[in-house]
Amino acid sequence: MSEIITHDILVLGSGLAGLRAALEASIISKGGLDIALVSKVQVMRSHSVAAEGGTAAVLRTEEGDSMELHAWDTVKGSDFLADQDVVDRFVKASPGEIRHLEHWGIPWSRRPDGRIDQRPFGGHSYPRATYAADKTGFFEMQTLYDTLLRYQNTTRYDEWFVTSILVEDGMFRGLSAIDLATGEFHIIQGKALIIATGGAGRISGFTTYSHAVTGDGIAMAYRAGIPLKDMEFVQFHPTGLIPTGILMTEACRGEGGYLRNSQGERFMEQYAPSKMEVAPRDIVSRSIMTELAEGRGFKREDGLDYVHLDLTHLGADKINERLGFIRELAIKFVDVDPVHEPVPIRPVWHYTMGGIHTDIDGATRVPGIWAAGEAACVSLHGANRLGSNSTAECLVWGRITGARAAEYALQREKPSSPPAESTARAKDHIFGDLMKRDGNESIYQIRKELRNTIDRNMGVFRTAEKMQQGLDKIRELKQRYRNIAVRDKSKVYNLDLMYALELGFMLDVAEVTTEGALRREESRGGHARLDFKTRDDDKWLKHTLAIYTPDGPKFDYSQVKITTWEPVERTY
Ligand code: FUM
Repeated sequence: MSEIITHDILVLGSGLAGLRAALEASIISKGGLDIALVSKVQVMRSHSVAAEGGTAAVLRTEEGDSMELHAWDTVKGSDFLADQDVVDRFVKASPGEIRHLEHWGIPWSRRPDGRIDQRPFGGHSYPRATYAADKTGFFEMQTLYDTLLRYQNTTRYDEWFVTSILVEDGMFRGLSAIDLATGEFHIIQGKALIIATGGAGRISGFTTYSHAVTGDGIAMAYRAGIPLKDMEFVQFHPTGLIPTGILMTEACRGEGGYLRNSQGERFMEQYAPSKMEVAPRDIVSRSIMTELAEGRGFKREDGLDYVHLDLTHLGADKINERLGFIRELAIKFVDVDPVHEPVPIRPVWHYTMGGIHTDIDGATRVPGIWAAGEAACVSLHGANRLGSNSTAECLVWGRITGARAAEYALQREKPSSPPAESTARAKDHIFGDLMKRDGNESIYQIRKELRNTIDRNMGVFRTAEKMQQGLDKIRELKQRYRNIAVRDKSKVYNLDLMYALELGFMLDVAEVTTEGALRREESRGGHARLDFKTRDDDKWLKHTLAIYTPDGPKFDYSQVKITTWEPVERTY
């Protein structure tokens, strides 16, 4: 067995939540805790760098914004599935995160008077998306990364692929991992773990997510016995560039851009007259899909249909200053200059509202394990997240979980080592099983079929028939996965092996997502059913919990915390 590597706190994932957690644990312990930051990608390749539009926070109470308003917008946006105590904690904590970043040197976009600027975003009643042009995630990541480097206590394990979370006797014991550069297998033990691996968007083929976002952390937590919560709620971002799915930030509409159908109409007038293009994403996505279904879209030669995101009236100066990256992407990828022409877009798989079930502090049911950011479901977003609330969530719960894990680690003398049998089992799963599989199924074919299945059956509008077809297919693919072959037997950067592991994770996540959706017989937020068209609070005002069993997920439900607002009809 390889040597065991030991640290106090293991942070799994190096995006916004992971960096913020590592930083907080460093600050709290004054650099005294020994932290490992483990990621399958180099820090600045984490998907958080792709966040574009902004980070929500109340900064202008003197001008009319308020914590109550941000909380109400979030709860209403969530279609009343958010836990309201969590929302309250969030809105109070996010302004502090904007100020921390300011002090650490982020170049926030500013007003002419030098104050931090904020822009409108979907479903928010006040312009509270704090931004750095249209590269907000990139600048936040760079700022956190630079700040973390001032502490000498974090060891980075870049391009280490974690294969399992080791839990024994109900306690966290460590991680098993492969160093991709050498192919060596390692055990990393720690007193505490923070899972911050992001969402699971790559189970879809048409998505804004980077290729690395395959739901690994979510699936590993599930396999380790931690329930997944509300996984059926997936967010479609209204404006994905076609055909790639590249994000055309909501800031395009926040800055005044229009959506137009093939008749030139600003069709949001029909669906959300008071908010128009800056209605919440679930509503805008459904509106676009309805326009397309009713024949008011445009069609490409290959049959893909779309509507227009029109920025031409904003003028070159505004576009260059605030949406320069968007202009560059549209020119490079579709040869359309938004200064002169509308951009072709359609709704695209964008965000995982569900995730690893945690309490309000990000603690999971396993002592010693926390989860933060998109990987977690602390129940902030409910059935539909408001744009710009996610980067804020990463910062807020990165900080909270970093602090809690640090307090926990400081009280413990040393980590409890993983028992030899469980480390042997983790190693055997890779080298005794996966690497030896020599069947006739291709990892790449199964992955392609999975993504097609999700795109075909788990779209903006869902039906029992489609979801059942999707679930049957996912189960068939799980069976076929047993018969894959990992053709590359070498050690250095064995991407064949990595893709095989990722595919196993994606299949689990896809199964939970689809079965949870099939079971939820109502429409709420991002879960819109044509066969159950309305929200059903009597039966479904509850969170879905999926619990791992070797034969597939077992489902349970838990209460939504309503502290202030009873559900009402959601109109905009
Ligand atoms: O549109 C965007 O810039 C995405 C922001 C978000 O998902 O919060």
